[in-house]
Amino acid sequence: MKISEALFAGSSTRVAEKPSRKFPEFAFIGRSNVGKSSLINMLCNNRRLAQTSSTPGKTKLVNHYLINRQWYLVDLPGYGYAKMSKTGRQKLEQVIRNYLNFSAELHILFVLIDSRHDIGKIDMDFLTELGTGGIPFAIIFTKADKLGPNALAAQMEKNRAKLLEFWEELPPVFVCSSETGAGKEEILDYIGSLLDKMQESAG
Ligand code: GTP
Ligand code: MG
Repeated sequence: MKISEALFAGSSTRVAEKPSRKFPEFAFIGRSNVGKSSLINMLCNNRRLAQTSSTPGKTKLVNHYLINRQWYLVDLPGYGYAKMSKTGRQKLEQVIRNYLNFSAELHILFVLIDSRHDIGKIDMDFLTELGTGGIPFAIIFTKADKLGPNALAAQMEKNRAKLLEFWEELPPVFVCSSETGAGKEEILDYIGSLLDKMQESAG
């Protein structure tokens, strides 16, 4: 799968305000600052498409990017940012919840987790909620460039073991770096394969 065109299509706080033209949606979520917006830019070869920041809590809206005029990449606000005011956090949670509960076009949710650390309670709780809500998801471990190859492999082994404590089988798992472009082809090919399956079942 190649991205030949990526266009900003709109920001929203509720699904009622989503872009009016409906296409399959592939959304990115994870803790604040984990690298969601950077990954969208990396996938689209455009560093200025989604706004990124070293300060957590940058993305506050649901942002739709129309890809190849056929599907959307969706950048969601982050969860679990402790330093934000309680009302600020609740607002973001509401935006996220509204999107996850009511977005009929959501095809799969990519949950991003920092590859450098053990999977924390905030992420495990979020993944468990997705399981309960029946929302299909895959996991992307981010910022892989920040660890050496051996440390990365060891951390991934730990992460897999942790996930298998709670689930009988692993969801699709990807490892990426927005700095080096690692993981790009795998993620885009995965999205491409899901789009192909959709077309087959529609036709
Ligand atoms: P919020 O919108 O605040 O929830 O954050 P986000 O998840 O969209 O993170 P964002 O893409 O804004 O990146 C946060 C910080 O991490 C920025 O300073 C990025 O430059 C940095 N970053 C993101 N991805 C990578 C990566 O793969 N490698 C490295 N080294 N830094 C990264
Ligand atoms: Mg962001």
